[in-house]
Amino acid sequence: MVTTEKVDQGVKTRRVAVIGCGHVGLTVAAGLGELGHSVVGVDVNEGLVTELCRGELRIHEPGLADLVRRGLDSGRLAFTTHYDYAVPEAEFIFLAVDTPQTLAGAADLRNIRAAINSLAPALNGSSPIIVNKSTSPIGTGETIEELLREALVERNVRARIVSNPEFLQQGRGVDDFFHPDRIVVGSRSAVDALEVASLYEGLHSEVIVTDLRTAEMIKYVANSFLATRISFINEIARLCESIGVDIDQVVEGVAQDPRIGSQFFRAGIGFGGSCLPKDVAALRYVGETFGVATPVLSAVQEVNRMQRTSAVRRLQSRLGSLEGRRIAVWGLTFKRDTEDTRESPAIDVVSLLSNAGAHIQAYDPAVAANPSLVPERFRPFLRATPLEAVQKADALAILTDWTEFKDVDLVTVRAAMINDLIFDGRNVLDQAEVEALGFAYIGVGRSATLPRRRRTDR
Ligand SMILES: NC(=O)c1ccc[n+]([C@@H]2O[C@H](COP(=O)([O-])OP(=O)(O)OC[C@H]3O[C@@H](n4cnc5c(N)ncnc54)[C@H](O)[C@@H]3O)[C@@H](O)[C@H]2O)c1
Repeated sequence: MVTTEKVDQGVKTRRVAVIGCGHVGLTVAAGLGELGHSVVGVDVNEGLVTELCRGELRIHEPGLADLVRRGLDSGRLAFTTHYDYAVPEAEFIFLAVDTPQTLAGAADLRNIRAAINSLAPALNGSSPIIVNKSTSPIGTGETIEELLREALVERNVRARIVSNPEFLQQGRGVDDFFHPDRIVVGSRSAVDALEVASLYEGLHSEVIVTDLRTAEMIKYVANSFLATRISFINEIARLCESIGVDIDQVVEGVAQDPRIGSQFFRAGIGFGGSCLPKDVAALRYVGETFGVATPVLSAVQEVNRMQRTSAVRRLQSRLGSLEGRRIAVWGLTFKRDTEDTRESPAIDVVSLLSNAGAHIQAYDPAVAANPSLVPERFRPFLRATPLEAVQKADALAILTDWTEFKDVDLVTVRAAMINDLIFDGRNVLDQAEVEALGFAYIGVGRSATLPRRRRTDR
């Protein structure tokens, strides 16, 4: 549930521009509007801005549509493609543009450079604080300073740069905005850093003030550590599969230790999305740049790749050849409660299965509503419901942990399938219950059962 009730609405209203209205930018813009600030979101994507002005969202994020609607209705939130409209009046300019991965693994700063080049001419002689929310390598704050120097010298004002990394998780972004664990603000000037922190005053969160580089490093270390936990437990899960031990019980026994905890500690087909993979790669690249070896980060990536291939190998070893097999897939997004399919492990597994000759019948609640979320070659695979996806299937592969998959009637599923095999790539089902219904079950890090019977001789 998304709650904003602990928010103290008595903050001083400031004028804010947010550059980039994607997952992070839109959540931050709408959240700051809700806190009482006057916010203008700027994006280069005209279609997106037109829709946002009407209160229509492309992204699936619980609670965000209501927040945007409230902001628009109150006049505290507006959207534009024009830097000239948003920048001159702004006291704070947030950068929330995407920083994708280059082929070499580095973070691509093209969009940050473009945003700075667009906003510099619109600065009106005042000296707003540029707040970098995009995840970008150590030293980006100084790069932004450098890019702005010429424009600011002409206007005789100094660059004020603050790094304010974003820690929200897609699928619970609004909740995370209103209940942050901590707010990190890094700057050359502690005064500027605290000015930025004051925007969030109503949230009563701990504020950590650092220099620019430390704030940038904190974000990469946080994401790389989360990725490390996932790859570590996945490596252990593969061991469990071989020795016949149940990973869920192992995790339960280990995670009770408060030094370890249970978050980001679930076995599955690996991590994905637009953040963890690229941030691990970018930190490795930083290591390469500075001549520092990062073998742990390399292993994190390798285990993550292996989880995808392991899923396919396990299905193949049960079904014999995958050629011509009909595989039902539930879930294509990189995790539940988001429409995001970027770097999705599910998409990788489907590609591998399809390349091996399997016929895919896929259902995902977000993709069913908007097929353009997946590459064109995937669209013929799409089905409108979970039950349509399992018709005459040899196996069902659950690849995303959408909650609704737990509610589908498995008796009906079994009747619709040709064979009785379930690969549970997210360990969302209760193994004993599934087996009691006559399915052969393969989970991740769970002991597999053999099929009781096969309805075909294939
Ligand atoms: N998605 C997350 O969960 C998350 C969490 C924390 C941090 N981050 C980081 O935040 C940043 C943004 O991520 P996102 O997921 O919101 O990206 P996104 O792709 O969802 O949105 C980025 C938006 O920026 C716009 N844009 C690009 N260049 C622009 C420019 N020059 N001027 C104006 N708009 C421009 C794009 O049109 C797009 O709408 C990334 O650096 C990411 O690593 C993301």
